[in-house]
Amino acid sequence: MILLNSAAMQVLTNKRILLGVTGSIAAYKAADLVRRLREAGAEVRVVMTRGATEFVTPMTFQALSGNPVHLHLLDTDAEAGMGHIELARWADVILIAPASADFIARLTQGRADDLLAAVCLAGGDKAPLAVAPAMNAQMWANEATQENVRLLSRRSVLLLGPDEGEQACGDVGAGRLLAPEAIIAQLAQLFAPGSLSGRTVLVSAGPTREAIDPVRYLSNHSSGKMGFSIAAAAQAAGAKVILVAGPVSLAGPDRVERIDVISAMEMHDVILQQAKTADIFISTAAVADYRPAEAWSEKLKKEDRELSLKMLPNPDILAVVKQQFPRLFCVGFAAETQHLADYAQQKLHKKGIELVAANWVGPAAETTAGAFGSDENVLHLFWRGGDLVLEQASKAKLARRLVEVVAQHFNGGQSKIVSNIHFLNKE
Ligand code: PMT
Repeated sequence: MILLNSAAMQVLTNKRILLGVTGSIAAYKAADLVRRLREAGAEVRVVMTRGATEFVTPMTFQALSGNPVHLHLLDTDAEAGMGHIELARWADVILIAPASADFIARLTQGRADDLLAAVCLAGGDKAPLAVAPAMNAQMWANEATQENVRLLSRRSVLLLGPDEGEQACGDVGAGRLLAPEAIIAQLAQLFAPGSLSGRTVLVSAGPTREAIDPVRYLSNHSSGKMGFSIAAAAQAAGAKVILVAGPVSLAGPDRVERIDVISAMEMHDVILQQAKTADIFISTAAVADYRPAEAWSEKLKKEDRELSLKMLPNPDILAVVKQQFPRLFCVGFAAETQHLADYAQQKLHKKGIELVAANWVGPAAETTAGAFGSDENVLHLFWRGGDLVLEQASKAKLARRLVEVVAQHFNGGQSKIVSNIHFLNKE
């Protein structure tokens, strides 16, 4: 029997767990799982497949979770209340326990023909997906199921179990649902290693705009996606997050305080103010290095002659912050078109910061994911005495990995910079 330690219990406090229950004899164990998750301080919402309702009534889960149970995809009332998209957005983690062979197969196909499958699909990169299989040993061993599980693992789905032993049908082997305590212990791990609970993380994102006149400006191609993903990942790791955003067209991540700015000087002032209460600063913004010496107050008229713009250097916000707040843990980015490692390491030392995340930009990008504007990226992390390549992945996934590494450094665990979150396809 696994006894949950208080650390495991603590990391689940206020975590939003969306529990999917599918049609399996082990569905009754999910009731105990809900009870224990609530005891650990987690908020739980339950989605049941039609098959699951054949084994346990929704009323059981409603009473234990303290929330209405979600059953139908095309139910106007339910969709008006909390529809499948909102449910997916609400969750910090989507846990399917028990996951039947049929549901696993449907998950691999990306089906959206019932509420639970649709929620998993809508969850995308936002919330990690954990699956605890439960089925007959022969069904588990079948190559079709094994193939499906391998496919899920390639998509970073966290597999919990199954356990081995005597089964309800009398067979003996692998396929039993992992005990609720073991599921919770592994879920807690998902949150623990990169935990930033109780910390304040300041993140800058997007470009800045440097005005030439009331209608023209100098800027760059930053979309804000990388920085916004980092803000969301830091929030999911338990931090209070303040996101200082240049002009971008992205919705702010849930439960993140957002301050919008336009110019580098504005960003400089806001960040210096916010840095006073922050523990960690992650500088993802593509701040303009120069601004026009003066901005015309009226629109510049076209004239048939050359026009020269005198430019002034903007302050290096990251360097200034590190100088003024030497104890602040600072993470810089390096956007390079050549000599990525050399330039990144120079930035690390010159600015005196703790960590640099380097990425290729521009036409010379040595990856298929040029960092500006795209949904994917590759990050090469450097710190004093070490480095780590985060292979090409969505910015949401990279942000989670980066935050995990930052948390491990921040919490003093530099020697263990290998993920101990057991996504099957990592490292
Ligand atoms: O927004 P996306 O479309 O998702 O693209 C992501 C990104 C390419 C913008 C991001 O991954 C990235 O690389 N951000 C840093 C861009 C940049 O300005 O790099 P740099 O090498 O010029 O600057 C080095 C560091 O100093 C950065 O942390 C930057 O935020 C900071 N800096 C730079 C200039 C300045 N005046 N003040 C600063 O604080």
